[in-house]
Amino acid sequence: MNSLIFLDECGSTNDYIREHLAELPDGAAVTARLQTAGRGRRGHTWSANDGMLPLSILFKNPIERDTLTARAGLAVCEALESVCILPEVSIKWPNDVIIAQKKVCGILCECSIMGDTACVICGIGVNVSQNEEFFRENNLPNGGSLLTITGTAPEREVLFRAIAERVKQRVETPFADCLGDFKARVLNIGRTVRIIGENRERTAVAVDIAPNGFLVCEDENGRFEVGSGEVSVRGENGYL
Ligand code: BTN
Repeated sequence: MNSLIFLDECGSTNDYIREHLAELPDGAAVTARLQTAGRGRRGHTWSANDGMLPLSILFKNPIERDTLTARAGLAVCEALESVCILPEVSIKWPNDVIIAQKKVCGILCECSIMGDTACVICGIGVNVSQNEEFFRENNLPNGGSLLTITGTAPEREVLFRAIAERVKQRVETPFADCLGDFKARVLNIGRTVRIIGENRERTAVAVDIAPNGFLVCEDENGRFEVGSGEVSVRGENGYL
């Protein structure tokens, strides 16, 4: 395994990697006991206490950058299952990890260029041991932790190592070889979804995942594909 870095506290593990890009090797993974200024997708903040496991992994010139987030989401599902006894672990496209209808993990991949090296910083936040009160107080009705769902929380270091290793394996694997496993976990397929873009919202049925990782949807005008950068996908009547 490449270098694993354990910090006591940091603003954001993604920022830590960005600030140390030159000296960190490909595959370096960092975690912190406490992350004080975590960021989520689409400009959101990522609330945390020390019950959340933040980690980021650095990839230098990874293959198929556009599907890296999807492959990381799949890897997190597999790593969680290798460490905990869980009910079904699904993906809300493109990469929220859902267990028992609750979001247990979010992923934020960010790109950074260093000379002629294209770097991807894959940031993963796993809700490990927050209690119900944490989600209530932070107004996160769709969030849950491994503790709230299963009654027990795994060791953070064991989880960190398992996730870092599995994500690295999946990121080295072409998406074509991950597609079947990814598709099998995507809970949106077969459901009506609201596709919320900058200036427009449309409702359609999600029917498939395309070979490029896009969500294939169908409405009265036919089939179309949606990329994760452009939109947020919600269920017909709420988050799922
Ligand atoms: C989401 O919006 O669902 C993505 C959340 C990603 C949070 C993780 S925690 C570790 C890494 N550092 C950050 O600042 N964000 C990501």
